[in-house]
Amino acid sequence: MNTTDFEVRELVDEASRLIRDGSLMAHVITFGCQQNEADSERIRGMLVALGYSITDKPEDASLIIVNTCAVREHAETKALSLLGRLKEHAKKRERYCIGLVGCAAAEPHVAKMIKSNFKYVSFTLEPAMLSMLPELVARYLVRGERSFIVGQDDGRIPEGLPAIRQSKHKAWVSVMYGCNNFCSYCIVPYTRGRERSRRSEDVINECRELIDSGVREITLLGQNVNSYRSDMDFATLLERIALLEGDFIIRFMTSHPKDASSELIRVMAKHRGKIAPYFHLPLQSGSDSILAAMNRTYNRERYLSLVDELRRNIPGIAITSDIIVGFPGESEEDFLDTLDMLRRVRFDAVYAFIYSKRRGTPAAEMENQVPENVKHERINKLLKIQEEISEEQNAAYLGRTVRVLVEKEINKRGQKMLSGRSDTNKPVHITGAKYDIGEFAYVKITEVGAFDLYAEPAGNNEI
Ligand code: SAH
Ligand code: SF4
Ligand code: F3S
Repeated sequence: MNTTDFEVRELVDEASRLIRDGSLMAHVITFGCQQNEADSERIRGMLVALGYSITDKPEDASLIIVNTCAVREHAETKALSLLGRLKEHAKKRERYCIGLVGCAAAEPHVAKMIKSNFKYVSFTLEPAMLSMLPELVARYLVRGERSFIVGQDDGRIPEGLPAIRQSKHKAWVSVMYGCNNFCSYCIVPYTRGRERSRRSEDVINECRELIDSGVREITLLGQNVNSYRSDMDFATLLERIALLEGDFIIRFMTSHPKDASSELIRVMAKHRGKIAPYFHLPLQSGSDSILAAMNRTYNRERYLSLVDELRRNIPGIAITSDIIVGFPGESEEDFLDTLDMLRRVRFDAVYAFIYSKRRGTPAAEMENQVPENVKHERINKLLKIQEEISEEQNAAYLGRTVRVLVEKEINKRGQKMLSGRSDTNKPVHITGAKYDIGEFAYVKITEVGAFDLYAEPAGNNEI
């Protein structure tokens, strides 16, 4: 251990004493994608190790961590305005500490702005350096020192960070971090840094421990899981996990169409009971020229053949997608090409986004930005068409028996229902039976809408 590590250890120990003596509490607010959800679990784990207890009431907390998303302008402004609202709160407490982490914290102009305009914020920390969190809290509590950690990504993966998981039955497991794809509209490669994969052994051990502890659903996470490379590729890793003993289901996200391999599809087909027959395959646009301008490196034809291969090998598979409308230069004809792809592919669901300019990305500098009103008209049209398709896709479930992992009790249509997801990731709401949370239920679909399925208990466990 060098001197710096030793000093950091001392500092963190001193902060721990202050935190424990004051019985201080911490609250974590999460925006953005599943990667951020997974990071927040580690943030809570590190804070508890430091001596905090976790509260879900921000007003009781002496430490607030805001875990931000920067993928679209709206996500970023939401997080920053929340930070603004915490100012009054900050004034009232001693040793009050606020930290900004996540993707917005990795943008140099945001870190700079926080440093000069948000004096009550104690630190900012980019996602790649998350393991520095205890040190930054300690620097502030012990020395009153503010820190701004940005542009320091050393490409390492910190293993063994403690995590406090939100659910006992469902777990995120990151397999790789970062992104090298540089789609021209996207900020993620700048906020999450270069791709790096965890050791397969670490991933498999984590999955085994989770399954042994009663977890029923594992979602493998990465910006592009198919870029996973260690001593094995993603398809092999997935197969190894599927071969673990136990009653569980594996999901993964996200996949880039350029490297969703035939081997991956073979593994999914072979281990259907364990690997969910579900594929999230972001298309982004149905126009070849827009796809090229987006730097997506596939075209309509390649995408359609991939969908065909998935459906041929995994009958009944659900396929969902992300679409961006109003990318710079998107003509009416380009947009019609996107609608045409929706009709050809017939996705189960689509997450559609209005293109949002992100500072520092090539698309932000492109000419021919599409006017806001045109973007809105297009997205509304697209959502309407997709809603009909989703409802038709869901209609195929009527009368069928599906397996559902029961997640929670909800109130819907004035009655209590148990709610969960089918293997194909459809939300299913169940009436007429009592199941435990975290149990696999076999239910018969009695009614469908564009987004949800309704069910009652099936007579037997045959699908
Ligand atoms: N790594 C994932 C996506 C992460 S971002 C993948 O490649 O599939 C999630 C989604 O946000 C993207 O699929 C895209 O549809 C959308 N998105 C990304 N940047 C955007 C931007 N600048 N404006 C609007 N939507 C964007
Ligand atoms: Fe962004 Fe593209 Fe990377 Fe996905 S693959 S995170 S859209 S750059
Ligand atoms: Fe947002 Fe970062 Fe995820 S920008 S979508 S939180 S990777």
